[in-house]
Amino acid sequence: MRIATVCGSLQTRSRNRALLERAAAVAPAGVEVVADDALAALPLFNPDIEDEGATPAAVARWRRHLSESDAVLIACPEYGHSLPGALKNGIDWVIGSGELNRKVVAITAAVLHPSRGLRGLAALSDTLHAVDAQIVWRDSIVADAGADAALVDLLARLAEAAAEARARAAE
Ligand SMILES: Cc1cc2nc3c(=O)[nH]c(=O)nc-3n(C[C@H](O)[C@H](O)[C@H](O)COP(=O)(O)O)c2cc1C
Repeated sequence: MRIATVCGSLQTRSRNRALLERAAAVAPAGVEVVADDALAALPLFNPDIEDEGATPAAVARWRRHLSESDAVLIACPEYGHSLPGALKNGIDWVIGSGELNRKVVAITAAVLHPSRGLRGLAALSDTLHAVDAQIVWRDSIVADAGADAALVDLLARLAEAAAEARARAAE
């Protein structure tokens, strides 16, 4: 079981990045949590780029990160009551190519208080519905001593849903 992580924050000292690193550390046996900073290298989405023939290497890498996974875990901050532009840009790059279509996805935000980050998650959820992603876990996680337990729950739900999706696909 391979879970691709996506950090919606590009800054180095990111609470969301730290949360994703904890997810990798607490993942159960048999669940591989794989990070990739492909999002940061993407050009701004413009259909002309691919219409002109070539897919940029950064775009191919981003799509591969998603497609080679059974499920995706996104942790992202709320910026301006919405999702970060970099993450929206990344999703725009896969609307046509389909790497997130029907994908099993968990979305979270590393926050200091449970009331924070929820509008960002709502906006992210709307965007993921546009690609028909299957959102199986959506909540903020307070970045404190309880975060590991929340991540264990999240990963269990994500792995269970991905296994169900895999079994359905094999029918
Ligand atoms: C430009 C900017 C806009 C922000 N807008 C919001 C917001 O609308 N709502 C919110 O709860 N937090 C907002 N924040 C706070 C960030 O969500 C918070 O700092 C978050 O921890 C950043 O994520 P990171 O630590 O993973 O980089 C904003 C921060 C910045 C820098």
